[in-house]
Amino acid sequence: MNITVIGTGYVGLVTGTCFAEMGNNVTCVDADPNKVAALKDGKIPIYEPGLEVLVSNNARENRLHFSTSLAEAMADSSLYFIGVGTPSNDDGSADLSQVLAVAKEIGQHLDHYAVVVDKSTVPVGTADRVRAVIEAELQKRDVEIDFDVVSNPEFLKEGAAIEDFMRPDRIIVGTDSDRARELMRQLYMPFNMNRDRTVYMGVRDAEMTKYAANAMLATKISFINEIANLCDCLDVDVENVRRGIGSDSRIGYSYIYPGCGYGGSCFPKDVKALIHLAESCQYDSQVLRSVDERNKRQQRVLFEKICQRFGSDLSGITIGVWGLAFKPGTDDLREATSLVLLHDLIGAGARVKAYDPIAMDAARKLLPKAWFDNCDLVLADHQYDALKAADAMVLVTEWKPFRTPDFMAMKKIMKQPVVIDGRNQYDPQQMSEAGFEYLGIGRRG
Ligand SMILES: NC(=O)c1ccc[n+]([C@@H]2O[C@H](COP(=O)([O-])OP(=O)(O)OC[C@H]3O[C@@H](n4cnc5c(N)ncnc54)[C@H](O)[C@@H]3O)[C@@H](O)[C@H]2O)c1
Repeated sequence: MNITVIGTGYVGLVTGTCFAEMGNNVTCVDADPNKVAALKDGKIPIYEPGLEVLVSNNARENRLHFSTSLAEAMADSSLYFIGVGTPSNDDGSADLSQVLAVAKEIGQHLDHYAVVVDKSTVPVGTADRVRAVIEAELQKRDVEIDFDVVSNPEFLKEGAAIEDFMRPDRIIVGTDSDRARELMRQLYMPFNMNRDRTVYMGVRDAEMTKYAANAMLATKISFINEIANLCDCLDVDVENVRRGIGSDSRIGYSYIYPGCGYGGSCFPKDVKALIHLAESCQYDSQVLRSVDERNKRQQRVLFEKICQRFGSDLSGITIGVWGLAFKPGTDDLREATSLVLLHDLIGAGARVKAYDPIAMDAARKLLPKAWFDNCDLVLADHQYDALKAADAMVLVTEWKPFRTPDFMAMKKIMKQPVVIDGRNQYDPQQMSEAGFEYLGIGRRG
């Protein structure tokens, strides 16, 4: 099949590359000419394990192409995947300007039957808006061309995106058109070899399914964080509680790891967008509002623990931060807890030395230049360099190299042996035996 994928971010590039890997002829279009030039040069603008090799193999085999021209790409294909960003507006609603701009461009150039596929995460009703924008453009051109708009939300996780796309738990296809459904069935057939994972439903149902999935996962995280904070108050070890409830098959172990809050480009904005969607139909989404509120507070838990230990004026205090990405396996800093922590620490007068195995370049580009100029923030070359003369180490992202560090070496180079563990990676008893003052999230020391 000939496919156009619009947007070459974490979702679009993975989608296009995986379709090409299955033998399709794919053109990935992006409005950013620098990204397209880099991709044509074989350079991947994001960090995603395994992606670079797949991109270069498929480009070499002439199945994967990159372009800034949607009009050119559209001419040869019958499936247009919209994978552009849907960030939050100030009021929490999803900003659909990128999606609707693509729809407009499609309407300006459409000249044969095609299926327009919303892969971006979009509120219920967006497919109707995309259809209306395309129809308006066709009317302006005074042409009548048949097309369908399908909702096919994406569930990949950054850091495991290729595996998730190639072996999905489910493929959601929202459409009421038999023609579109058949094209989608054929396209996804190679991803369904062992068993058919596709769930067909209405377009609006599919749009809601994506938000409901992310809201459910965010709810599990905020729930266990609330329990962990209560454990801190009640001298209970949340690690025992986590294992105790996870063993219940109705609850399960996934997404019940307490920590310093969820971040990333999906959960925070999608929960907010769903709250906004509820407000737009005068429904008070009490659960979702609490999930969001708990998370905002949870992202400040590490700073609160630091203030309890060192006081609220942190002048003269040096904090070593391990991990900047919103989670391991990615260079993505969007809504990362590290950003909240760095703002709080530097605002309170602390000096910060930070290290991340992958997200250092992204951090250098994103963080305020003044922090670097004033030496409020130093990005260390190595995880242990971030701890030299530090009054405390704070673990924010649980990258594998942070899991079993050389505690003796750490103790020698740190000014004070204080470890604040935002992801409950270390054993309180072992830490205490090694001579560390240890603070986890809901852990009994
Ligand atoms: N990142 C994830 O893990 C993930 C997972 C599932 C779903 N999603 C959803 O997928 C969508 C895309 O997310 P992402 O993280 O890949 O975003 P991203 O910001 O990484 O990428 C979006 C890309 O779209 C391009 N773009 C914007 N307007 C364009 C236009 N008019 N024409 C062509 N290109 C244009 C941008 O230049 C950018 O490269 C979002 O709705 C997101 O919620 C993301």
